[in-house]
Amino acid sequence: MKKLLALLLVMTMVLSIGITFAGAETVGAGKKVGIAMPTQSSERWINDGANMKAQLEALGYEVILQYAEDDVQMQVSQIENLTAQQVDCIVIAAVDSGALTGVEAQAKEAGIPIVAYDRLLMDTDAVSYYASFDNEGVGRAIGEYIETAKDLANAAEGTSYTIEFFMGSPDDNNAVLLHQGVMKVLQPYLDNGVLVCKTGRTSFDDTCILRWSQETAQQWAENYLASFYADEDLDIACSAFDGFAYGIRSALEAAGYTSENWPLITGQDAELMAVKNIISGQQTMSIYKDTRLLASKCVTMVNAVINGTEPEINDTETYNNNVITVPSYLCTPVAVDLSNYEELIIGGEYYTPEQLGQ
Ligand code: BGC
Repeated sequence: MKKLLALLLVMTMVLSIGITFAGAETVGAGKKVGIAMPTQSSERWINDGANMKAQLEALGYEVILQYAEDDVQMQVSQIENLTAQQVDCIVIAAVDSGALTGVEAQAKEAGIPIVAYDRLLMDTDAVSYYASFDNEGVGRAIGEYIETAKDLANAAEGTSYTIEFFMGSPDDNNAVLLHQGVMKVLQPYLDNGVLVCKTGRTSFDDTCILRWSQETAQQWAENYLASFYADEDLDIACSAFDGFAYGIRSALEAAGYTSENWPLITGQDAELMAVKNIISGQQTMSIYKDTRLLASKCVTMVNAVINGTEPEINDTETYNNNVITVPSYLCTPVAVDLSNYEELIIGGEYYTPEQLGQ
């Protein structure tokens, strides 16, 4: 009798767990989502893909996750392929935001909705929603960090700091906005001479680095240091990306910089290596973009286009892609440095102390 009761109890538990899971899983049951990510060469996109996949699978969706390794043509073929497989929605973080109009139109014709992930899809009416971070806000946060750290607003008469800029890819709308945000804060100090850019390269056109290449950033830094900073140290490297910060670090080491004259170096993404470099002093700050949060906002958009629910939107004005203004959800970027990484990064369980070598 006891055995029978125990068996009944176990069966009831199994059944109720099954029902609970089935409840969460039914939203996406029988539906396929294709995710086209730009590259695995930078850690952030690996995390973005993994988070999106896990969160969608938890809702019962089948997920096809693809990376294009920064190859525009490869991404075009991947999206063509996802359309041919008749997925129910395609999420795209573009390699080149303007190069996908043909395949986007094909998907639209096939009745497949598209959600833009992190990078706005340009020149198309085939995109339903956009999930990202406040990209101009990222630039402002970098600019404000430099402004505060060097107390630029109260610089004494005759005090100046040298600065060089390493901005993002010209085919990525985020990079344009980031530069605008940086310059909103720093342009006045370039104008009044508190900041001095010895190469004279401050415009977006002069400072953008195609495909966010770490190697190019390193080469530029090497050239700048050799040609413009032989007699005077570089005080600030305003870098738009953690990857650039790694390249700049190598160039500085090769040029003989030490902790005595190490410049302020900014970054973006709070990659694991960047946070380690912040702890050891080789990078000053980064922008913390919680990819788990971004993925969760994007998932509400995928649900919306597939199941007709209402996604969370907090911006309906900013992101015009030259054809339509795309309803967006923008997460808030936060500056991270030595003073707050424990609270933000470890406290937020983004990385464990073990991952950070502690
Ligand atoms: C993203 C950044 C990232 C950069 C390079 C941008 O589109 O918004 O977070 O650092 O691409 O991968």
